[in-house]
Amino acid sequence: MSKPECMYEPQNYVVTIFYRKGVMMNPKRYENLFMQIRKHDCTTLMEIGVWNGNHAMKMIKAAQVFGEVSYYGFDLFEMCTAEIVKKEFAKKPPSMDTVSKLLEATGESINLYRGQSKDTVKDFIRKCIQVDFIFIDGGHSQDTVKTDWQNVQQLMNKNTVVIFDDYFYNSKEHECFGCKNIIDNLDKEKYSKEFLMPVDIAEDGLHISMVKVMRK
Ligand SMILES: C[S@@+](CC[C@H](N)C(=O)[O-])C[C@H]1O[C@@H](n2cnc3c(N)ncnc32)[C@H](O)[C@@H]1O
Repeated sequence: MSKPECMYEPQNYVVTIFYRKGVMMNPKRYENLFMQIRKHDCTTLMEIGVWNGNHAMKMIKAAQVFGEVSYYGFDLFEMCTAEIVKKEFAKKPPSMDTVSKLLEATGESINLYRGQSKDTVKDFIRKCIQVDFIFIDGGHSQDTVKTDWQNVQQLMNKNTVVIFDDYFYNSKEHECFGCKNIIDNLDKEKYSKEFLMPVDIAEDGLHISMVKVMRK
């Protein structure tokens, strides 16, 4: 397997370890979401994989300083079964209603879509809405990440910031999950990519970071 183009040597990482007593705690890589929203003045936010909405809430708050915010969130919500959790290496989300109530407290425009992202995001493309910021963090199977990326490309203009979560550096076991395959094979003519620090280290030693992608 070829070496990724990012600085893979551990001495080049900024690393945080995010577990305590066997429970993953406060991984630091998510700070990148709020920093990138602030850096690029984003107010129209999209997230594939909303889960409990806590990061959505923080992203909306980061964007509120620039004006009114529109948030578009895609998740299976009640449709997420134990089988899907296993297949997608995912976390079981609360109900859409619970997340909706949480996010509506921000006073911003909240739009949630329940279902497989391959269908819901595809439908969303037809609405022709311009999106400033897209966080891809839904199903982690290669098929799902690939389809999400194919759909997301159709929503990107030259200023759209796309953040992929779950670039797994060092695990054979996780090779079939996450965005590594897409990021390592990204079309260099069309897209720039930036590996965002820090790299979080999970209890099992898995190194994880986010990657930012924009059109060139
Ligand atoms: C890792 S969690 C998302 C975490 C969230 N982005 C955050 O930062 O807190 C992954 C979410 O993706 C959802 N998901 C998994 N497979 C999906 C699919 N095929 N379509 C839509 N959502 C999916 C799961 O229900 C779960 O809530």
